[in-house]
Amino acid sequence: MSNPSILILPGDGIGPEVMAEVRKIISWYGDNRDLAFDVSEDLVGGAAYDAHGTPLHDDTMAKAQEVDAVLLGAVGGPKYDNLDFSVKPERGLLRLRKEMDLFANLRPAQCFDALADFSSLKKDVVAGLDIMIVRELTSGIYFGEPRGIFEEGNERVGINTQRYTESEIERVARSAFELARRRGNKVCSMEKANVMESGILWREVVQKVHDEEYADVELSHMYADAGAMQLCRWPKQFDVIVTDNLFGDLLSDAAAMLTGSLGMLPSASLGAPMANGRPKALYEPVHGSAPDIAGEGKANPIACVLSFAMALRYSFDQGAEADRLEQAVEKVLADGVRTADLLGEEGVTPVSTSEMGDAIIAALNASL
Ligand code: IPM
Ligand code: MG
Repeated sequence: MSNPSILILPGDGIGPEVMAEVRKIISWYGDNRDLAFDVSEDLVGGAAYDAHGTPLHDDTMAKAQEVDAVLLGAVGGPKYDNLDFSVKPERGLLRLRKEMDLFANLRPAQCFDALADFSSLKKDVVAGLDIMIVRELTSGIYFGEPRGIFEEGNERVGINTQRYTESEIERVARSAFELARRRGNKVCSMEKANVMESGILWREVVQKVHDEEYADVELSHMYADAGAMQLCRWPKQFDVIVTDNLFGDLLSDAAAMLTGSLGMLPSASLGAPMANGRPKALYEPVHGSAPDIAGEGKANPIACVLSFAMALRYSFDQGAEADRLEQAVEKVLADGVRTADLLGEEGVTPVSTSEMGDAIIAALNASL
């Protein structure tokens, strides 16, 4: 059998630097765990625009459809701010999500013990926090029609449409319930059923999927604004949160910051199973391209490394190896190794991006 395949799309800003560390770790698995991957690399975002005049070349799109998993760094940067909307770096990412039909976006917010002091919330509110936001990723107001800026009378009107079909809600609800069964067995669904018809349908369908297929899982519903408030008040009440594309975008940034460090959080975007049984999948850090520090070797590669750990777990059925990698990251943090974004303690000198990668490799070696 041939090796599983990975397409790496480093993208813009700090993307290439953090991805270089992930490449070291992928090689480590080939050398030490008999887990070799066929890795190819291509352009996305501003980097693709510079080379081809489009943020995602059709050939790259086709490759992404064929591989077992895509790993993406980050897209965007001030250099591209004034480009036409249709070729902005973000459009490359949105096209990947849409055409691969990656409807379930898994965003864990986990607080590492060693970093509990970094949160803007009190330590006891966040210590041990481990929640999973499941964000619907291919529909809702991000993609609904009609959309655009139109003339209306003597002024313009900007229109976006929130739209959800029952089947779109059903499939993401199933993803959330399946995950909950493997975690704390609790799902909280968030929408605005008090003001939006799409929210009413969302609530009904999630409840129906629950009652018919997942009655063993504890289900609650919350208005998304109240959910945002509860996330800041007492986040540990949640296990899995399932929500739509836009609310998920907002709530996952808020949840990420609870952990004190956006530079730590990975994500997985999963679609339907392919012929080989693996889900279509794209893994990426939650953070952006951080153009202010790009190229300086200061970026924290951990979110991207942990995104590869998610790939091991969800695409390659290597849960034990994913645990190994996550534990290596925990050990490095417990040992006090810090990139510049994690500095808070007196007298700690930051390590570079590649030194952090090397420290994780050393912890992996120590785990053998
Ligand atoms: C995210 C980002 C994207 C989104 C942008 C870059 C298009 O904020 O992944 O959360 O809005 O989905
Ligand atoms: Mg976002």
